Amino acid sequence: MTDTERAPIALFYGSSTCYTEMAGEKIRQQIGSERVDFFNISEEPIATALYYDCLIMGIPTWDYGELQEDWEEIWDELDDLDFSDKTVALYGMGDQIGYPEWFLDAMGYLYHKLIKLGATVVGLWPNEGYQFEQSKALNEDQTLFVGLALDDENEFEKSDQRIASWCAQILNEFGLE
Ligand SMILES: Cc1cc2nc3c(=O)[nH]c(=O)nc-3n(C[C@H](O)[C@H](O)[C@H](O)COP(=O)(O)O)c2cc1C
Repeated sequence: MTDTERAPIALFYGSSTCYTEMAGEKIRQQIGSERVDFFNISEEPIATALYYDCLIMGIPTWDYGELQEDWEEIWDELDDLDFSDKTVALYGMGDQIGYPEWFLDAMGYLYHKLIKLGATVVGLWPNEGYQFEQSKALNEDQTLFVGLALDDENEFEKSDQRIASWCAQILNEFGLE
């Protein structure tokens, strides 16, 4: 892909049972598919992210607070990348009823890594209206998730509205309205 063919935003996701992929598709449709290049991290080198200024990353949590396997696979590669001129918005998928002590933990791990690598993270999202006990994906004062929180196991019917509001928010924060 040449620079002129690239969309202004790239969305990278890892997904074991397709939920994060499906949410990513909805986010892409909401923003406009021509404005978002769409990558599965198991198929595209994560270094491709460096061609973009604005990034969306989707990450589910698995196995009691662990990274999804494809994110796990590229986790150390991320350390070689410089995100200091990148703006990144995260969305996480989890199950607040089944795993209330580990809700969306992997999104928290990714947030902390990206901050360490210099990224500006946008798209923080209020934690009101969710039921969980603990999450590593909360900001310092515990009022916001560090990205969009989606739970298609228990609140599938809320996801479309959440995605629509969050996309408007991040487009504004990306300066791309
Ligand atoms: C075995 C198993 C373990 C899970 N562990 C967690 C967890 O620790 N925290 C959480 O928030 N969600 C957990 N989940 C829920 C998944 O994150 C959720 O199903 C998600 O939508 C999966 O996304 P994917 O299909 O894109 O991989 C778990 C689900 C399964 C089946």
